[in-house]
Amino acid sequence: MRKPFAAGNWKMNTDSKSSVELAGAIKEGAADIAGNQVDVALIPPFVYIPGVVSAVGGSQVAVGGQDVYFEKEGAFTGEISPAMLKDVGCSYVLCGHSERRHVLGESDEIVNKKLKASITGGLLPILCVGEKIEQREAEQTEQVVKQQLVKGLEGVSEDMAEAVTIAYEPVWAIGTGLTATKEQAQEVHAFIRSELAAIYSQETAENIRIQYGGSVKAANAAELMGQKDIDGVLVGGASLKADEFMGIIKGAF
Ligand code: 13P
Repeated sequence: MRKPFAAGNWKMNTDSKSSVELAGAIKEGAADIAGNQVDVALIPPFVYIPGVVSAVGGSQVAVGGQDVYFEKEGAFTGEISPAMLKDVGCSYVLCGHSERRHVLGESDEIVNKKLKASITGGLLPILCVGEKIEQREAEQTEQVVKQQLVKGLEGVSEDMAEAVTIAYEPVWAIGTGLTATKEQAQEVHAFIRSELAAIYSQETAENIRIQYGGSVKAANAAELMGQKDIDGVLVGGASLKADEFMGIIKGAF
């Protein structure tokens, strides 16, 4: 059984005070359920990670980084290594979020290096994939998602793959208020699972969690997560409001 997994990607939002308040409210709200019925992760901006880690201390609410660099250390101004994220208490990290791919120009090759370095460094990466609207309209969704998966997981062994979560985030649904219907999302999730089975094995594919992301809110989270291959959600905007995010978390079970 795959345990549902709800993660809040705060993107470039919050400040030192509001990040700690938000994390504290989630810790309190999810005290009895996080880690039991549902895995919960908060993914704040790098600079607020230590404050968020201490705010959720003593609970099962996990913390992650929004990005990571693939080198261990050295002259890479502005970058953060997997070991640094571990050192400040992160267990998860996003790799290949659509904003990194499409706003900051990250390639599949870079995403793959980051993913491998994260696993080797003891982090649990969330590999984000998803098509743009013009690709969906041209019926290229499967082709795009397959390439991001195959290239993203290149050189990742079956053992290593168990550390990975996949997040399907159609670019046209991110921050737009447009959510994929549960049928549209389930269709792509089932495709992703079949591709994971082709790359690894049916057994491994059944063990890997696949989150949906893109305008998830409390009002639609439960029906999305009710789909057979939707094992959780990766939430942007709605994860910035404690009540709304708690509503989403509770939709997981
Ligand atoms: P929204 O929930 O704001 O659409 O963002 C989704 C996302 O990109 C999460 O990583």
